[in-house]
Amino acid sequence: MEHQTLTSFPNDFLWGSASAAYQVEGAWQEDGKGESVWDRFVRIPGKTFKGTNGDLAVDHYHRFQEDIALMKEQGLKAYRFSIAWTRIFPTGRGEVNQAGLAFYQELVDELIKNDIEPMVTLYHWDLPQALQDEYNGWESRQIIEDFTKYAETLFEAFRGKVHYWISLNEQNVFTSLGYLLAVHPPGVTDPKRMYAVNHIANLANASVINKFHELKMPGKIGPSFAYTPNYPINSDPKNILAAENAEDLMANYWMDVYMWGKYPIAAMKFLEEQGWAPTIEAGDEELLESAKPDFLGINYYQTATNAFNPLDGVGAGKMNTTGKKGSSEETGVPGMYKKVENPFVERTNWDWEIDPEGLRIALRRITSRYRTPILITENGLGEYDKLTDDKKIHDEYRINYLANHVKAIKEAISDGATVLGYCTWSYTDLLSWLNGYQKRYGFVYVDQDETQEGSLERYKKDSYYWYQSVIKENGESI
Ligand code: BG6
Repeated sequence: MEHQTLTSFPNDFLWGSASAAYQVEGAWQEDGKGESVWDRFVRIPGKTFKGTNGDLAVDHYHRFQEDIALMKEQGLKAYRFSIAWTRIFPTGRGEVNQAGLAFYQELVDELIKNDIEPMVTLYHWDLPQALQDEYNGWESRQIIEDFTKYAETLFEAFRGKVHYWISLNEQNVFTSLGYLLAVHPPGVTDPKRMYAVNHIANLANASVINKFHELKMPGKIGPSFAYTPNYPINSDPKNILAAENAEDLMANYWMDVYMWGKYPIAAMKFLEEQGWAPTIEAGDEELLESAKPDFLGINYYQTATNAFNPLDGVGAGKMNTTGKKGSSEETGVPGMYKKVENPFVERTNWDWEIDPEGLRIALRRITSRYRTPILITENGLGEYDKLTDDKKIHDEYRINYLANHVKAIKEAISDGATVLGYCTWSYTDLLSWLNGYQKRYGFVYVDQDETQEGSLERYKKDSYYWYQSVIKENGESI
């Protein structure tokens, strides 16, 4: 649909940007913080790019005031960050570590003082190692109670101050990468365990959302899903079915549960046939159906194009974590779909397809299927950036990427979607879990690299000023 004029962004649109504790904070053993599964995993040789870890990261823990001053100057309306569970409960439960909580209290107060809306992610992958050791973390239903208790502690601590809460960040990613591809902790390759873990995570998510509503918390809560909309490679019905399979197994399998409390039928049949379906106990369906998120958070980076894949076809292939274009391997689920190259879009150096139209499609599909407000909790471009001799970063490629995606949001709003806000990934440069520091996303360049000996100085990129003017005019000239 082409609109003659586009609808303006609402006046209270939340122009934001995001980060996650492990990727920015550093201070991994300070003020009583406990060990997380990531603190442990990065020490296994060969797991991360050039052995990078988040021990120091970009030292946000000690530099948050400087970072917030930069946000204020830019005019940022919202900042999404995650809380490290291990700072609040060093061993996952028990007594609150007051020093850890105090850090986030200062951070939230500083944001509010600067008129920036804090958005808190409760879980961005850094599970307390103690819970992994004690009961295998997400593999045990005990985590439902522990995660809910942790969340409740934060709800009460930030009641009236934090109005936007994200329950789980990219459950689809941490379960698949942790239990299927073994590239995230706990480094398992077992689909049966992955779907079991995922079901428990669904229950924990529902329990936390219900707790938020039971406590009559002022504000909104929802999960953040990494949504990669699926296309067929062409109109061959076999390929169209492959795309439907991918959408059911890779997207609806999470979003339907969040929004309706039900698993999609065809995907579940497939899992049953493989012997991978989760065990649904009495009361589970009721819990899933009772939880009603106030919005659906989406992290959007790319689309996927699909083709027919026979039962003896391609399985999971290697991801590109080197930044060498074209180094990712073919990937698929035999009997369901395989991913193929879309000839109509460009790719980044990490082989992520650049597709702003896909964001509009994502927003429209979600709007029609679930009729829910959407918060875009991540979107951005990971690329090599160069600091010039005069300390500038000319990232016009990032400006193009973001401008095209902002335009796609405006079009989706004109199509009827309700979008509460837009958080770019990321605010400052930060540690990419598997890609070190060479893959950068920020508006603010940080002098840090794989040697982890950078000065940690912050420099504003050209995209920083671009976003500043977008915010100022509320996206009017996009
Ligand atoms: C999302 C995560 O998957 O994408 C972020 O929520 C992550 O934590 C971002 O950094 C970009 O991914 P990557 O692999 O390029 O760092």
